[in-house]
Amino acid sequence: MGRIVAGALAPHPPHLVYADNPEQNEPTAECGWETLRWGYERLRNDLEGIDYDTIVVFSPHWQTYVGTHFLGVPHFKSKSVDPIFPNLFRFNYDLTVDVPLAEAMCDHASRAGLVTKMMRNPDFRVDYGTIVSAHMTRPQWDKPIVSVSSNRSFHFYSAEVMQEQALTLGRATKAAIEASDRKVLLLASNSLSHRHFISEPAVPEDMSKEHIYNHHQYLWDMKIIEMLRKGDSRGVIDVMPEFVEQSMSEAESGSLSWLLSALDFPTYGAELHGFGTVIGTGNAVMSWKCPEEGK
Ligand SMILES: [Fe+2]
Repeated sequence: MGRIVAGALAPHPPHLVYADNPEQNEPTAECGWETLRWGYERLRNDLEGIDYDTIVVFSPHWQTYVGTHFLGVPHFKSKSVDPIFPNLFRFNYDLTVDVPLAEAMCDHASRAGLVTKMMRNPDFRVDYGTIVSAHMTRPQWDKPIVSVSSNRSFHFYSAEVMQEQALTLGRATKAAIEASDRKVLLLASNSLSHRHFISEPAVPEDMSKEHIYNHHQYLWDMKIIEMLRKGDSRGVIDVMPEFVEQSMSEAESGSLSWLLSALDFPTYGAELHGFGTVIGTGNAVMSWKCPEEGK
Protein backbone atom coordinates (compact mmCIF):
# COMPACT_ATOMS: atom_id res chain seq x y z
CA MET A 1 0.00 0.00 0.00
CA GLY A 2 1.26 3.46 -0.89
CA ARG A 3 1.57 6.21 1.66
CA ILE A 4 2.59 9.80 2.28
CA VAL A 5 5.88 9.61 4.18
CA ALA A 6 6.32 13.33 4.79
CA GLY A 7 5.13 16.77 3.81
CA ALA A 8 6.89 20.10 3.73
CA LEU A 9 6.18 23.78 3.42
CA ALA A 10 8.75 24.56 0.73
CA PRO A 11 8.56 28.19 -0.48
CA HIS A 12 9.84 29.07 -3.92
CA PRO A 13 11.52 32.51 -4.04
CA PRO A 14 13.87 32.22 -7.04
CA HIS A 15 16.40 34.19 -4.97
CA LEU A 16 17.19 31.03 -3.02
CA VAL A 17 18.27 29.12 -6.13
CA TYR A 18 20.15 32.20 -7.35
CA ALA A 19 22.06 32.46 -4.07
CA ASP A 20 22.82 28.71 -4.03
CA ASN A 21 24.58 28.91 -7.44
CA PRO A 22 23.59 25.50 -8.86
CA GLU A 23 25.09 24.66 -12.24
CA GLN A 24 21.62 24.73 -13.88
CA ASN A 25 21.12 28.45 -13.17
CA GLU A 26 22.82 31.01 -15.40
CA PRO A 27 23.12 34.03 -13.05
CA THR A 28 25.55 33.73 -10.13
CA ALA A 29 25.44 35.31 -6.69
CA GLU A 30 27.95 36.07 -3.97
CA CYS A 31 25.69 35.12 -1.07
CA GLY A 32 22.22 35.90 0.28
CA TRP A 33 19.15 34.69 2.22
CA GLU A 34 21.30 32.28 4.24
CA THR A 35 18.79 31.63 7.03
CA LEU A 36 16.36 30.21 4.48
CA ARG A 37 19.00 28.33 2.51
CA TRP A 38 20.35 26.81 5.71
CA GLY A 39 16.75 25.96 6.56
CA TYR A 40 16.44 24.06 3.31
CA GLU A 41 19.72 22.31 4.12
CA ARG A 42 18.24 21.20 7.45
CA LEU A 43 15.10 20.01 5.63
CA ARG A 44 17.22 17.96 3.23
CA ASN A 45 19.14 16.43 6.14
CA ASP A 46 15.85 15.71 7.91
CA LEU A 47 14.52 13.86 4.86
CA GLU A 48 17.77 11.96 4.37
CA GLY A 49 16.66 8.94 6.38
CA ILE A 50 13.25 8.65 4.71
CA ASP A 51 12.70 6.47 1.67
CA TYR A 52 10.35 7.86 -0.97
CA ASP A 53 9.64 7.32 -4.66
CA THR A 54 7.98 10.53 -5.84
CA ILE A 55 7.76 14.23 -4.95
CA VAL A 56 4.35 15.87 -5.40
CA VAL A 57 4.39 19.69 -5.61
CA PHE A 58 1.37 22.00 -5.45
CA SER A 59 2.46 25.25 -7.09
CA PRO A 60 0.77 28.67 -6.80
CA HIS A 61 2.48 29.66 -10.06
CA TRP A 62 0.83 27.07 -12.22
CA GLN A 63 -2.47 28.89 -12.34
CA THR A 64 -5.35 27.24 -14.17
CA TYR A 65 -8.87 28.57 -14.55
CA VAL A 66 -10.78 25.51 -15.74
CA GLY A 67 -10.10 22.85 -13.18
CA THR A 68 -7.02 21.42 -11.49
CA HIS A 69 -4.31 20.21 -13.88
CA PHE A 70 -1.60 17.58 -13.40
CA LEU A 71 1.65 17.18 -15.35
CA GLY A 72 1.13 14.21 -17.64
CA VAL A 73 4.26 13.93 -19.81
CA PRO A 74 7.10 11.61 -18.68
CA HIS A 75 9.98 14.01 -19.32
CA PHE A 76 10.43 17.77 -19.55
CA LYS A 77 13.62 19.57 -20.51
CA SER A 78 13.77 23.30 -21.12
CA LYS A 79 14.72 26.63 -19.58
CA SER A 80 12.61 28.33 -16.93
CA VAL A 81 12.93 32.12 -16.72
CA ASP A 82 11.28 34.00 -13.87
CA PRO A 83 9.14 36.71 -15.49
CA ILE A 84 9.75 39.16 -12.63
CA PHE A 85 13.37 38.27 -11.91
CA PRO A 86 14.97 37.17 -15.20
CA ASN A 87 18.19 38.63 -13.78
CA LEU A 88 18.16 35.99 -11.01
CA PHE A 89 16.55 32.87 -12.43
CA ARG A 90 17.28 31.34 -15.82
CA PHE A 91 17.25 27.67 -14.90
CA ASN A 92 17.89 24.74 -17.23
CA TYR A 93 15.64 21.99 -15.97
CA ASP A 94 15.58 18.32 -16.90
CA LEU A 95 12.96 16.41 -14.94
CA THR A 96 10.87 13.27 -15.01
CA VAL A 97 7.22 12.93 -14.07
CA ASP A 98 5.50 10.05 -12.28
CA VAL A 99 2.69 9.97 -14.84
CA PRO A 100 0.86 6.92 -13.40
CA LEU A 101 0.62 8.61 -9.99
CA ALA A 102 -0.45 11.90 -11.61
CA GLU A 103 -3.20 10.05 -13.47
CA ALA A 104 -4.34 8.35 -10.27
CA MET A 105 -4.44 11.70 -8.46
CA CYS A 106 -6.36 13.26 -11.35
CA ASP A 107 -8.83 10.38 -11.35
CA HIS A 108 -9.43 10.51 -7.59
CA ALA A 109 -9.88 14.28 -7.67
CA SER A 110 -12.36 13.92 -10.49
CA ARG A 111 -14.34 11.31 -8.58
CA ALA A 112 -14.36 13.68 -5.58
CA GLY A 113 -16.27 16.16 -7.75
CA LEU A 114 -13.44 18.45 -8.89
CA VAL A 115 -12.91 19.50 -12.51
CA THR A 116 -9.57 18.01 -13.59
CA LYS A 117 -7.30 17.69 -16.62
CA MET A 118 -4.05 15.93 -17.44
CA MET A 119 -1.51 18.28 -19.05
CA ARG A 120 -0.24 16.35 -22.11
CA ASN A 121 1.58 19.11 -24.02
CA PRO A 122 5.26 18.03 -24.36
CA ASP A 123 6.28 21.65 -24.94
CA PHE A 124 4.65 22.88 -21.75
CA ARG A 125 6.96 25.12 -19.70
CA VAL A 126 7.05 23.86 -16.13
CA ASP A 127 6.45 26.77 -13.74
CA TYR A 128 9.25 28.12 -11.56
CA GLY A 129 7.28 27.53 -8.34
CA THR A 130 7.43 23.80 -8.97
CA ILE A 131 11.08 23.95 -10.04
CA VAL A 132 12.39 26.04 -7.12
CA SER A 133 10.63 24.02 -4.41
CA ALA A 134 11.66 20.69 -5.93
CA HIS A 135 15.23 21.85 -6.49
CA MET A 136 15.76 23.26 -3.00
CA THR A 137 14.28 20.10 -1.44
CA ARG A 138 16.03 17.57 -3.68
CA PRO A 139 18.73 19.20 -5.86
CA GLN A 140 19.83 15.85 -7.25
CA TRP A 141 16.66 15.71 -9.41
CA ASP A 142 16.80 11.91 -9.11
CA LYS A 143 13.15 11.40 -8.16
CA PRO A 144 10.16 11.82 -10.47
CA ILE A 145 7.75 14.58 -9.58
CA VAL A 146 4.05 15.30 -9.96
CA SER A 147 3.10 18.96 -10.24
CA VAL A 148 -0.43 20.07 -9.38
CA SER A 149 -1.89 23.37 -10.55
CA SER A 150 -3.78 25.93 -8.49
CA ASN A 151 -7.32 26.18 -9.83
CA ARG A 152 -7.90 29.90 -9.47
CA SER A 153 -11.50 30.06 -10.62
CA PHE A 154 -12.92 29.65 -7.10
CA HIS A 155 -10.83 32.54 -5.87
CA PHE A 156 -13.17 34.92 -7.65
CA TYR A 157 -16.03 33.57 -5.56
CA SER A 158 -14.38 33.69 -2.13
CA ALA A 159 -11.28 32.71 -0.16
CA GLU A 160 -13.44 30.23 1.79
CA VAL A 161 -14.53 28.34 -1.33
CA MET A 162 -10.98 28.40 -2.71
CA GLN A 163 -9.73 26.73 0.48
CA GLU A 164 -12.61 24.23 0.61
CA GLN A 165 -11.64 23.08 -2.86
CA ALA A 166 -8.04 22.63 -1.72
CA LEU A 167 -9.17 20.48 1.22
CA THR A 168 -11.11 18.23 -1.16
CA LEU A 169 -8.06 17.98 -3.42
CA GLY A 170 -5.94 17.05 -0.38
CA ARG A 171 -8.29 14.20 0.58
CA ALA A 172 -8.28 12.96 -3.02
CA THR A 173 -4.47 13.16 -3.12
CA LYS A 174 -4.20 11.06 0.04
CA ALA A 175 -6.65 8.47 -1.29
CA ALA A 176 -4.85 8.23 -4.65
CA ILE A 177 -1.46 7.73 -3.00
CA GLU A 178 -2.80 5.10 -0.61
CA ALA A 179 -4.34 3.21 -3.53
CA SER A 180 -0.96 3.26 -5.33
CA ASP A 181 2.30 1.52 -4.45
CA ARG A 182 4.19 4.80 -4.06
CA LYS A 183 5.90 6.35 -1.05
CA VAL A 184 5.44 10.09 -1.54
CA LEU A 185 6.84 13.39 -0.28
CA LEU A 186 4.38 16.31 -0.58
CA LEU A 187 5.51 19.92 -1.03
CA ALA A 188 3.36 23.01 -0.55
CA SER A 189 5.24 25.60 -2.59
CA ASN A 190 4.26 28.91 -1.01
CA SER A 191 5.41 31.86 1.03
CA LEU A 192 3.40 32.92 4.10
CA SER A 193 2.88 36.70 4.10
CA HIS A 194 3.43 38.00 0.60
CA ARG A 195 3.52 41.78 0.51
CA HIS A 196 6.83 42.60 -1.16
CA PHE A 197 9.15 45.40 -2.18
CA ILE A 198 8.51 47.18 -5.46
CA SER A 199 12.12 48.06 -6.21
CA GLU A 200 15.22 45.91 -6.20
CA PRO A 201 18.58 46.97 -4.73
CA ALA A 202 21.49 47.37 -7.14
CA VAL A 203 22.99 44.19 -5.69
CA PRO A 204 20.04 41.79 -5.22
CA GLU A 205 21.86 39.76 -2.55
CA ASP A 206 22.71 42.85 -0.47
CA MET A 207 21.25 41.64 2.81
CA SER A 208 21.48 45.08 4.40
CA LYS A 209 18.39 45.82 2.27
CA GLU A 210 16.41 42.69 3.22
CA HIS A 211 13.92 43.06 6.05
CA ILE A 212 10.37 42.42 7.19
CA TYR A 213 8.02 44.60 5.17
CA ASN A 214 5.18 45.11 7.60
CA HIS A 215 4.75 44.35 11.31
CA HIS A 216 1.15 43.15 10.95
CA GLN A 217 2.19 40.65 8.30
CA TYR A 218 5.06 39.51 10.51
CA LEU A 219 2.58 38.90 13.35
CA TRP A 220 0.50 36.72 11.02
CA ASP A 221 3.59 34.75 9.98
CA MET A 222 4.55 34.12 13.60
CA LYS A 223 0.99 33.09 14.50
CA ILE A 224 0.74 30.57 11.66
CA ILE A 225 4.20 29.13 12.38
CA GLU A 226 3.45 28.74 16.09
CA MET A 227 0.12 27.01 15.35
CA LEU A 228 1.83 24.59 12.96
CA ARG A 229 4.65 23.92 15.45
CA LYS A 230 2.04 23.06 18.09
CA GLY A 231 0.14 20.72 15.78
CA ASP A 232 -2.89 22.99 15.50
CA SER A 233 -3.44 22.41 11.79
CA ARG A 234 -7.23 22.53 12.16
CA GLY A 235 -6.83 25.96 13.73
CA VAL A 236 -4.74 27.08 10.75
CA ILE A 237 -7.49 25.94 8.39
CA ASP A 238 -10.04 27.88 10.46
CA VAL A 239 -8.11 31.16 10.19
CA MET A 240 -6.87 30.57 6.63
CA PRO A 241 -9.36 32.92 4.87
CA GLU A 242 -8.46 35.81 7.22
CA PHE A 243 -4.76 34.98 6.95
CA VAL A 244 -4.69 35.01 3.15
CA GLU A 245 -6.73 38.18 2.88
CA GLN A 246 -4.92 40.18 5.56
CA SER A 247 -1.36 39.07 4.76
CA MET A 248 -1.80 38.63 0.98
CA SER A 249 -0.45 35.14 1.61
CA GLU A 250 0.50 32.83 -1.23
CA ALA A 251 -1.35 30.14 0.77
CA GLU A 252 -4.30 31.77 -0.97
CA SER A 253 -3.49 29.38 -3.85
CA GLY A 254 -4.69 26.48 -1.69
CA SER A 255 -1.28 24.82 -1.40
CA LEU A 256 -0.94 24.83 2.41
CA SER A 257 -4.58 23.77 2.93
CA TRP A 258 -4.06 20.96 0.39
CA LEU A 259 -0.97 19.78 2.27
CA LEU A 260 -2.61 19.81 5.71
CA SER A 261 -5.65 17.99 4.33
CA ALA A 262 -3.53 15.34 2.59
CA LEU A 263 -1.61 14.84 5.85
CA ASP A 264 -5.01 14.38 7.56
CA PHE A 265 -4.64 17.53 9.69
CA PRO A 266 -1.60 16.60 11.78
CA THR A 267 -1.90 17.06 15.52
CA TYR A 268 1.85 16.52 15.91
CA GLY A 269 4.04 19.58 15.57
CA ALA A 270 5.76 20.57 12.37
CA GLU A 271 9.54 20.99 12.47
CA LEU A 272 10.60 24.55 11.66
CA HIS A 273 13.87 24.47 9.69
CA GLY A 274 14.16 28.15 8.92
CA PHE A 275 12.34 31.46 8.56
CA GLY A 276 13.38 34.48 6.57
CA THR A 277 12.15 37.23 4.31
CA VAL A 278 12.74 37.52 0.58
CA ILE A 279 12.02 41.00 -0.78
CA GLY A 280 9.97 41.37 2.40
CA THR A 281 7.76 38.28 1.99
CA GLY A 282 7.64 35.83 4.92
CA ASN A 283 8.97 32.36 4.22
CA ALA A 284 9.12 29.31 6.48
CA VAL A 285 10.67 25.95 5.65
CA MET A 286 8.81 23.35 7.72
CA SER A 287 8.24 19.62 7.61
CA TRP A 288 5.91 16.96 8.92
CA LYS A 289 7.39 13.48 9.10
CA CYS A 290 4.53 11.05 9.32
CA PRO A 291 4.86 9.35 12.74
CA GLU A 292 4.77 5.81 11.35
CA GLU A 293 7.97 6.53 9.41
CA GLY A 294 9.83 6.54 12.75
CA LYS A 295 12.37 9.06 13.88
FE1 LIG B 1 5.54 33.02 -5.74
